Order: sequence, then structure tokens, then C-alpha cells
Amino acid sequence: MFSKHDNSLLVRAMRGLPVERTPIWIMRQAGRYMPEYRAIRSGLSFLDLCKNPEKAAEVTLLPIEMLNVDAAIVFSDILVPIEAMGCPVEFGDGGPRLPRPVRDVAALTNLRIPDPNKDCPWAAETIRLLDKPLGDIPCLGFAGAPFTLASYMIEGGTSRNFTHIKTMMFQKPELLHGLLDLISETVVVYLQSQIDAGAAGVQLFDTWAGILAPQDYENFALPYQKRVFDGIGRSVPRILYVNGCGTYLTQMKASGADVISLDWRVSMRAARQILGPEIPVQGNLEPSRLYGPNERTAERAHFVLKEAGPTGHIFNLGHGILPDVSVESAVALVKSVQSFRH
Ligand code: CP3
Repeated sequence: MFSKHDNSLLVRAMRGLPVERTPIWIMRQAGRYMPEYRAIRSGLSFLDLCKNPEKAAEVTLLPIEMLNVDAAIVFSDILVPIEAMGCPVEFGDGGPRLPRPVRDVAALTNLRIPDPNKDCPWAAETIRLLDKPLGDIPCLGFAGAPFTLASYMIEGGTSRNFTHIKTMMFQKPELLHGLLDLISETVVVYLQSQIDAGAAGVQLFDTWAGILAPQDYENFALPYQKRVFDGIGRSVPRILYVNGCGTYLTQMKASGADVISLDWRVSMRAARQILGPEIPVQGNLEPSRLYGPNERTAERAHFVLKEAGPTGHIFNLGHGILPDVSVESAVALVKSVQSFRH
């Protein structure tokens, strides 16, 4: 299928095709480290911002204008479709809170697979609004992976020990599989709505799958990542991100993802060796590197670029940009990556 972004640096790199230079975008590139983001967000709750496509489009464009990155990522959050499933979500100063966690059959029975066009249309609408203003810049869509979304729904928020989901995993695995089934179906239709709206690629965030023991990863994370990738098909390239991916690279590849997004704890060289040269990778500068100084950040970025090689690499951080780094350090990073030639 032909898409207007097939020729972009991002899509070519995601497909392992030749590129003039390595493209860069930054996870969480639109966010609190930008005064302009804080200004647009003031007086609005974070979720209301996600549900306002005009404002979400404005926020999505900030890093294109200010950093000159090679890709946009639609402004939203992985927890948005969870609310549409019937599990309420709130955001406070301490991060997300889900006041009615899913811990038994009754709670599972009350959930539904949402119709993304009716129940959570905002990300797709934002992507549609961005088609003109972005011009040649491709826009990525995204979703949380089933295991990571289940962890929020069961824990009721971000967790340190993942007590409730692990208890369910060991005591009532069939209940957890039931929830993962429902989330997988939701994520498939949700990502498809973003692809239909014009997303040039998608990223599946399995942020918390790295906390699992290997057998549990293979039972509760991998099959559902696979279900999502099989469900949306191959019309656009698909990235898989796992924080703590170092010991799961082979399994990540088995998910069917087109691009493996690396955190910063694994060396690019080791990852390439394990994955093989043919699969594109994304990453993997340590986010704290943006504390500077800029010259040393650039040196380390160039080291990553060299280890990754000239094709099949999308430069990124190993996790989201931190809220207390300076915009100026992010601008310097983008320039240092875009001026590098192999
Ligand atoms: O990358 C982008 O610019 C697109 C937007 C985006 C956000 N969240 C905006 C956001 C994306 C891709 C996400 C993904 C996301 N959300 C993940 C997976 C990636 C990762 O970081 O591991 C997760 C686990 C979440 C859940 C979430 N959202 C948490 C735990 C928090 C609170 C902690 C925090 O960083 O604030 C959020 C809030 C959130 N998501 C903010 C933004 C810009 C900050 C909200 C604010 O304005 O106060």
C-alpha cells in the first residue's frame, strides 16, 4: 500500500532501507520540560488536553517547531483507551490513579471493547488534523501493550512491586488472561483507528514487561504483543518498546515487531549482535545524558550512531525525556544527530 510518508527518513529507517542520515525523534518529546507545553496545559487537566484534538495537535507540533525532530508522535496517553473500556482514570500530581481497579471476575465482566470512533476518537482525530500542518513530517500513533495496560488496571496506578497483578498471575492466571484478551482486542481496534487516520507507523509501549521473569514474559506479555501486531497487520511499520529489554531481545523479535526500541542499559553493539543485522532498532541514549554538558552528550550520541551503523536505526532516548532537562539541551542533541554522517 502506498502512503505519502513511505519516502520519509523515518519510514525508510523503520523498513531498513538506505537513508542519507539517521532520523531522530524523542519519546515524550512534547511535555513538561517545554514552557510552551506548560502554557497550553495550564487551566486544563492532562486528560482534557488529550481529549481536545485542536490543542493536542498544537502540542504535537511543538517539538517539530522547537527541536526540528524527524517525526511527530500524536499527543495522548496509553491510559486513554482504558477509560473507554469502562475503567475510570484520573491524573494527579502523583501520576495516574485508577479508582476502580480490576481484581475479580465481576470487574472484568463490566469492561467492554470500545468503539474507537465513538468512545476514544481523539488520537485519530488529532492525527487527521495534523496531516496538513505536518506536511512531509510523518506522525506516529501509539498504544500501551496489553501487559502494561493490565498492570495499571489491576494495580490502580504506577506500582513499585506489582503486587496485585503478580498475585493474580500466580493465583488466578485465567482471570489475567481474560483481561489481556479484552485489552488486546481493544488495542488492535484503537491502533487501527490511528492507522486509518494516517499514522505513518505505530509504537507499542510494553513499558513494564521488563519486570517479568522469562517464563511469565513468554506467557503474559509476548503472546499479546503478537496478537496486537497480527491484528493490525503490516500496512505501516510497528515499533515495540520494553523498558528493561536487555534480556528479552530474542522474545521481542518473536513478537513480529518491525523495529525493536532499546532502553539505555543494553549496548547498541550487543543488541545488534543478538538481534542480527536485518532488524531495525531504535534508541538508545540514556535520558539523563541531557543533563549535559552538550559536548559530552553529542559524543555519546555519536558513539550510539556508530555502533548502530548507517541503516535500520532510528535515534531516540532509551526512555522518555525527563521533565527537568532544558529545551536547549534537546535542541543540541537533535542537531548533533542530524549533522552526523557515517
Ligand atoms: O511521547 C509523546 O510526546 C507523546 C505523548 C505520550 C505521553 N505519554 C504524554 C504524557 C506518550 C507516548 C505517553 C506514553 C505513556 N504514558 C507511557 C509509556 C511510555 C513510558 O514513559 O514508559 C506510560 C507508562 C504512560 C502512563 C503515564 N502518563 C504516567 C505514568 C504518567 C505520569 C508520570 C509522568 O511522566 O508524568 C503520565 C502522564 C503524562 N503522559 C504526561 C505527558 C506529557 C505528563 C502530564 C502532565 O502534563 O502533567
